[in-house]
Amino acid sequence: MNSGRTVFARTHYCGEVGKHEAGLQVSMLGWVQRRRDLGGLIFIDLRDRSGICQVVFNPEAHPEVHAIAHTLKPEYCIAVMGELAMRPEEMRNPSMPTGDVELHAHGVSILNESDTPPFVVEDGVEVSDALRLKYRYLDLRRPGLQRNIMLRHRAAAASRRYMDDNGFIEVETPVLTKSTPEGARDYLVPSRVFPGEFYALPQSPQLFKQLLMISGFDRYYQIVKCFRDEDLRADRQPEFTQIDIEMSFVQEADIMEITEGLIATIFKETIGVEMSRPFERLSYNQAMADYGCDRPDTRYEMLLKDVSDIVAGSDFKVFSAVFSDGGVVKAIPVKAPASLSRKELDGLGSVVADYGAKGVLWARVTENSWNSSLSKFMSEEQIQAVNTRLGLSVGDMVLFIADQEDVANASLAALRHHLAMRFDMIPDDIYSALWVTDFPLLEWSREEQRLVSVHHPFTAPKPEDINLLESAPQKVRAQAYDMVINGNEVGGGSIRIHNQDIQRKVFSTIGLTETEARRKFGFLLDALKYGAPPHGGIAFGFDRLVMLLAGASSLRDVIAFPKTQKAACAMTDAPSALDNAQLAELGIKVIK
Ligand code: AMO
Repeated sequence: MNSGRTVFARTHYCGEVGKHEAGLQVSMLGWVQRRRDLGGLIFIDLRDRSGICQVVFNPEAHPEVHAIAHTLKPEYCIAVMGELAMRPEEMRNPSMPTGDVELHAHGVSILNESDTPPFVVEDGVEVSDALRLKYRYLDLRRPGLQRNIMLRHRAAAASRRYMDDNGFIEVETPVLTKSTPEGARDYLVPSRVFPGEFYALPQSPQLFKQLLMISGFDRYYQIVKCFRDEDLRADRQPEFTQIDIEMSFVQEADIMEITEGLIATIFKETIGVEMSRPFERLSYNQAMADYGCDRPDTRYEMLLKDVSDIVAGSDFKVFSAVFSDGGVVKAIPVKAPASLSRKELDGLGSVVADYGAKGVLWARVTENSWNSSLSKFMSEEQIQAVNTRLGLSVGDMVLFIADQEDVANASLAALRHHLAMRFDMIPDDIYSALWVTDFPLLEWSREEQRLVSVHHPFTAPKPEDINLLESAPQKVRAQAYDMVINGNEVGGGSIRIHNQDIQRKVFSTIGLTETEARRKFGFLLDALKYGAPPHGGIAFGFDRLVMLLAGASSLRDVIAFPKTQKAACAMTDAPSALDNAQLAELGIKVIK
C-alpha cells in the first residue's frame, strides 16, 4: 500500500482545524475514540493530543475506504486523508472546538489495531483509580490529563526562561547521595561495592546547592526530583519535583522579590492570570493567631479570635479546667445566612477529633443573649464582649474550642476550612498568594523529646535573636519564609548559616554531638571554612504549583506516572522482590 512516508505525512492536528481550513486536503493521525454508523455513513471521532475531529466515510464516494472504516474500533491507531469540509448547518456542534467542520475521508490506513480497552478513554467516565493507574498510558490519552501534562510542560518552560533571563544557572546535583535532613524518611539504595552501606536518594538538593554557592556560582536553580518516604496525601507524592533555587549575597527580601517574579510569570504565561505584587506578608505568629495554621487560605474571612481574657471569669468547668492547664479559648464566627442544624453541630466533633480536640462548643446570637448551653455560665457583659470581638449580630453563630493553644488552632483551622466548603465561601477563580515569615527556628518535638529545626538545621537565625540560642532557643526566630497560595504551601526557604561557629551552635542546640555533626555534615562544616558567601534560597513544589494552575485536586492529575497512596506503581508493580542472586551480590538478606 502506501509507503510509510506518505502515510505519516500529517498536515494538521485533529484539534486545530476550523472553518479557515475548510476546502483543504488534509491528513491526520490519531486514535479512534468512537465510531457511529448512521444510515450508511460512518462517523469516527479521531483523537490526538490537540483534540478531536469528526471524520465521515461515505459508502458511495469511496466504497473501499468505507469498507475499512467498518472494521475500525475504539483506540485503533489510524491515518486518515481527505477533504476538510464545513458541516451542514444543522450538524454543527458549538460545544466542540472543531464542531464547525468534518473530514470527508477518501483514504484510511490502519497503523495498528487495539484490543478492547479496559475503560472508555474519555473524560468524565466512571472508572476506579486502581484501573486507571494500571493502564496509565491509556488514561493519559484522555484530553483532561493530556491538557494537564502539557500545562506542566509550559510551566517548566516558563520557569526555565525566567530563571535564565535572571542570570540563574541550572546545575544537576547527585541522586545517589547521603541522607539530607528535611524531616522525612529516606529512600535508600544499597551499594554493591560497599556491602552493608547505602546511598540515600535526596529529599532535596539542599546541601549541594549551598556548596555550589561556596563554589561561586552565585545564582543556581534546578528543576529536580526529590524523594521522601512519608505518609502520602492528595498533595504529597513520594517522588516529586522542586524548582530549587539558591542565591549568594542576598537577604530575605531579595529572594522574595525574585521568586514572586517567577511565580507571577508562570501564572501569566500558562493560564493568563495576572498576580498582584508584592505578595502580602504575614508573620508566623499572626498567621497562627488569625487562621490557626501557617498556610492560611486567605480567599475568605472567618478569622479566629482568642476570647480567653473575656471568658476567664466564667463558672464553666470546661473553661476553668483548660485555663488551669495553661490552655486557651478561641472562637470562629459563622455569619448568617449561613447556619448549622443541630445535627451538623453534633457532627463537628468528628471534624476536630483528628486534631485532639474533645469537642466543639457553640452559641447562636439572639436578641438579648445566646441560645447555647454556655449562656447560663456567662454574664451579659461577657456575651456582649464576645459578640463585639467576633463582630456578631442577631442570627449569627459562634463556635468555640477550649484546649491547649496548638490543639485549638489546628482544630479551628480545620473547622474554618470545613465551614468554608460547606457554605461555598471559597471563590475558585482567585489566586491569593502570600508569604508567611518570621518562623520560629526550633520547636519541641514531643515524639523525639528534643528541639528540632522547624525548616532544616542550615537555616539562619535572625541576627538579633542569636544571643537567645542558649538561653531561650524556642524564642529564636528564623530567617525563613514560606509561600502560600490558596491555602497550599507551594514553597519554602531561608537564609542559610554561612558561619561555621553558628552552624555548630545550631547542631548542638538540636542535640547533635560534635562527633555526630562531623559524621553527618563534616563536608559542610569544612566547606564553611573556605570563604563561604552569605547565601539563601527557596524550593517550590512544582507539582503543587501545576495542580493549582490546572485546578486539579490531587497531584496525581498533574504527574504522568504517579504513585498510589501506598507509594507503589500500579502499572510496573514497583516496588517488587529481587531474586536471590541480586540480593546476594548486594550482601542483603530479607527478613520476612
Ligand atoms: P521543603 O521541605 O519545604 O523545603 O520543600 C519545598 C516544597 O516542596 C514541596 N513538597 C512536596 N510536594 C509534593 N510531595 C511532597 N512529598 C512534598 N514535600 C515537599 C512543597 C514544599 O513547600 N531544601 C528546602 C528548601 C530550601 O530551604 O531552599 C526544602 O526542600 O511545596
